[in-house]
Amino acid sequence: MILFSALATLGAGAGGCVPGERAALLDVKRGFTSDPDGVLSSWTGLRPDCCRWGGVVCDNATGRVVELRLRNALADGGSTGLSGEISPALLRLPRLAHLDLSHNSLSGSGVAPPPPLPRFLGSLSALRYLNLSSTDIAGEVPPQLGNLSRLVALDLSSLAGLYSGDLSWLAGLSKLEYLDMGFVNLNASVGWVRAVSMLPSLRVLSLPQCGLTTSPSSPANLTRLRKLDLSSNAINTSTVDAWFWNVPTLTYLDLSGNSLSSPFPDAIGNMTGLQVLNLDGNGMVGMIPATLQRLCSLQVLDVTVNQIGGDMSEFMDRLPRCALGNVLVLQLSAANISGRLPEWIGDMAQLKYLDLSFNNLVGEIPQGIGKLSKLTRLFLNKNSLDGSLSEAHFVNLVSLEWIDLSQNSMSMEIRPSWRPPCKLVYAYFPDVRMGPQFPAWIKHQPDIKYLDISHSGIVDTLPQWFWKSFSDAVYLNISVNQISGRLPSSLRFMNSSLAIYLGANNLTGSVPLLPEKLLVLDLSRNSLSGPIPSEFGAPELVELDVSSNRINGTVPASLCQFPNLLHLDVSNNDLTGHLPQCRNVSSDDLGLTTLILYNNNLSGEFPVFLKHCKAMTFLDLAQNMFSGIVPEWIGRKLPSLTHLRLRSNMFSGNIPTQLAELGDLQLLDLADNRISGSIPRSLGNMTGMTQEHPPLSLNPLTGYGASGNDRIVDSLPIVTKGQDRDYTSGVIYMVSLDLSDNVLSGEIPEELSALTGLVNLNLSRNHLNGTIPWNIGAIKKLESLDLSMNMLSGGIPSSLSDLTSLSHLNVSYNNLSGRIPQGNQLQSLANPAYIYIGNAGLCGPPLWKNCSSGGDDSVQQAPLHGDKSLSKIVFFYLGLGVGFVVGLWLVFFSLLFVKTWRFAYFQAIDMLYDVVYVFVAVRLSRRSAEESATS
Ligand SMILES: *[C@@H]1O[C@H](CO)[C@@H](O)[C@H](O)[C@H]1NC(C)=O
Ligand SMILES: *[C@@H]1O[C@H](CO)[C@@H](O)[C@H](O)[C@H]1NC(C)=O
Ligand SMILES: *[C@@H]1O[C@H](CO)[C@@H](O)[C@H](O)[C@H]1NC(C)=O
Ligand SMILES: *[C@@H]1O[C@H](CO)[C@@H](O)[C@H](O)[C@H]1NC(C)=O
Ligand SMILES: *[C@@H]1O[C@H](CO)[C@@H](O)[C@H](O)[C@H]1NC(C)=O
Ligand SMILES: *[C@@H]1O[C@H](CO)[C@@H](O)[C@H](O)[C@H]1NC(C)=O
Repeated sequence: MILFSALATLGAGAGGCVPGERAALLDVKRGFTSDPDGVLSSWTGLRPDCCRWGGVVCDNATGRVVELRLRNALADGGSTGLSGEISPALLRLPRLAHLDLSHNSLSGSGVAPPPPLPRFLGSLSALRYLNLSSTDIAGEVPPQLGNLSRLVALDLSSLAGLYSGDLSWLAGLSKLEYLDMGFVNLNASVGWVRAVSMLPSLRVLSLPQCGLTTSPSSPANLTRLRKLDLSSNAINTSTVDAWFWNVPTLTYLDLSGNSLSSPFPDAIGNMTGLQVLNLDGNGMVGMIPATLQRLCSLQVLDVTVNQIGGDMSEFMDRLPRCALGNVLVLQLSAANISGRLPEWIGDMAQLKYLDLSFNNLVGEIPQGIGKLSKLTRLFLNKNSLDGSLSEAHFVNLVSLEWIDLSQNSMSMEIRPSWRPPCKLVYAYFPDVRMGPQFPAWIKHQPDIKYLDISHSGIVDTLPQWFWKSFSDAVYLNISVNQISGRLPSSLRFMNSSLAIYLGANNLTGSVPLLPEKLLVLDLSRNSLSGPIPSEFGAPELVELDVSSNRINGTVPASLCQFPNLLHLDVSNNDLTGHLPQCRNVSSDDLGLTTLILYNNNLSGEFPVFLKHCKAMTFLDLAQNMFSGIVPEWIGRKLPSLTHLRLRSNMFSGNIPTQLAELGDLQLLDLADNRISGSIPRSLGNMTGMTQEHPPLSLNPLTGYGASGNDRIVDSLPIVTKGQDRDYTSGVIYMVSLDLSDNVLSGEIPEELSALTGLVNLNLSRNHLNGTIPWNIGAIKKLESLDLSMNMLSGGIPSSLSDLTSLSHLNVSYNNLSGRIPQGNQLQSLANPAYIYIGNAGLCGPPLWKNCSSGGDDSVQQAPLHGDKSLSKIVFFYLGLGVGFVVGLWLVFFSLLFVKTWRFAYFQAIDMLYDVVYVFVAVRLSRRSAEESATS
């Protein structure tokens, strides 16, 4: 220590700093209340030469402080950096030309209120460089900043709490060459173009996400502007003559994420120096202009999510030929492009990223693509490409890391001995035919983090090397093949694994010990046996599907101990015994939204732990041996329930009137139990059944669900129209009330006819008496109505003929009498005689028995009132479980890229993996996200 300060003193002797400035710096230091990384630890009186303090730069000749470089270099690692205030003591450093405080969150991770931008900074008259980006500063930009007449660079980016309604202060910064105010709210700055026009030296202008709306066409005299970033604003200039099309000096133009729904202006061709052109997500209409040919420096072209709508070869022909050898990035995902990929795409020798996903491309992938030795990312997913991929397609793809060929009709024809020249990280081949043999070449791809070879026609055993080769994978999906073989008893070694989909194969063995970080596991539709282990080893598990196997034993109590578990499906197995009590959970502990137990041999009363599952939407206990009453508390404790299936158990007692409190319930199936009493009138109040729940494809963009994630929709049998049928993708919108096969008595409450959204109503095989409600015809959506095998009497209401969607009707074996109503759909039903059989008093067609005159005692129709409203379907999806989230995530994966490429390309390209990782993890589990940040 003594030696240390001696050295420091020695240093001060050689010139060193001015005492007054040293004192000023110490005051600056005092302004900061916290310095977690010790960046100011050298700022101490023990080291008098302040020119040697960390971050301080002095003029060699005069010893005056000219620069303070205090950027928080550890921000990426999560450090908040310096917090506290920017001290006015800075004014005592009159030569200060460079001030960088960026990435220090001055409010100290939000503990203190965000500090304002100090006015006195406007008096640092020597300042040439000022960087306060990402410092938490908030409030209005003080106009005093306009006094910094020597300022060359001003960075106020990533200060979302900052605003400037009037940019006239900019006029004072006549030397400004660099201006970045990204994320600062300039919403009200109508005159922003005029304001920046006063900056004749400007070379870089970055105003992304500033809430800018208009961009007047008045020319800006920005004759030196090279880089312009106006991305993610709401600029909707539909004129083609906006000023930014006409700045010939530009090399970088980013207008992505605006609403420029115009055609591409010819003037683009005037920017002959342009290297980067990003028009992603604007909805621009029509083919790129021929003038683009002039952009001989073009390296990056992004026209993702626009309505280009032409042919691929025409598009390619309009790319600048003079630049083809230099183009690095070509993105035209979701641009409505059709036609074939030209062979000469292989001439774009420098191409690194090629994204043509979500278009209408047809034909084979040309072999020319195999020449792209610099290509790292290739996305051709969601097109109509066909033909087969051969080794020739890959011959020179030595740099390829990310490939997505999903959702085409392609096959891969590759020798088992082929060694790919590339090292893939992201290998996404669902629906690409590769079978019947398991693709041997992936064995030599140890870097793969994401592998999807689902639905690829593999009929083979899972090779021994599989788990070893992919022990570092994050995401594995081999579902929907016919892959056989025995699962290892432990997958513990899969350290990075977040999601494993093995569903719909022919795997044997038992449920393995799971990787510690695992979030999603799908083992459904295999031939697994043995019990569900009492220890899973995946505490973060969010989704578990082991349905349709031969798993036996009981449901272990450990299932109560997954705080994040949303979706549990153990249906179609041989499970026995009572469900665990889950005693030690408080009401917030169980987030379960989906619990599917149907078709096992489970017994006991209605599970009491469900009282703690407030978020439950989909509950299926059907086809078990549950007994006891249907508890009243369902109505209060499970307020989000949309689907409740208890059919084919031994429940007894009454239907609780409180069920009507479930306002979202759209499917109630209590059939085939021993439920007695009458049908509560309150059921007519179930608003979830008064609404239509229109079919919604799994993904609005693609209609595609990642394999293994659409299984509820896939496989839940709904009994309607007198037969079990797979309501493929229908269960989501199925609105059904099934109380059949019980011992219900009393009348059918007229109130049920208020359930105008019902598609299926089944009250058959009970002891119901009285008449059929006269206004049953109000349930317009009804496709199936079964009232058979009761003791109903009276006539059949004529309103029945209003049910124009009806395709199945059964009123047989009652005591109905009178004339059978005619008309509409009733005429076209199959098995007409069978519908009415066993009712001695019915007459008229289709029965042979003629009616005596006037024997028609059916009731007149009541006026109808339509009742349509938006369904809660979206919420159902959101709550359905992470499978859906992950599924959607995968589908939107390439779109995610699109957004990250901008950054990835200009910063560290291979950060993307981490971005994606964080993205998933944040979605699924906060704790995993934290881990990823530190790893
Ligand atoms: C100060 O001197 C060092 C070497 O003595 C030199 O590298 C540096 O560029 C000089 N700085 C200024 C601002 O003149
Ligand atoms: C162009 O810049 C000059 C200052 O150099 C300014 O006086 C003039 O008003 C600007 N013109 C426009 C159209 O903004
Ligand atoms: C820009 O392009 C348009 C259309 O191609 C042309 O009419 C105009 O003269 C060009 N302007 C300049 C400054 O070159
Ligand atoms: C795999 O299982 C399916 C369905 O159980 C069956 O049809 C098929 O024959 C099985 N394939 C093999 C190779 O065992
Ligand atoms: C589960 O099934 C296996 C055979 O697959 C059998 O040996 C075992 O006894 C069964 N266990 C129970 C609890 O039924
Ligand atoms: C149905 O709801 C209405 C309004 O909430 C209420 O007044 C009525 O009593 C309910 N009907 C039954 C039978 O519970």
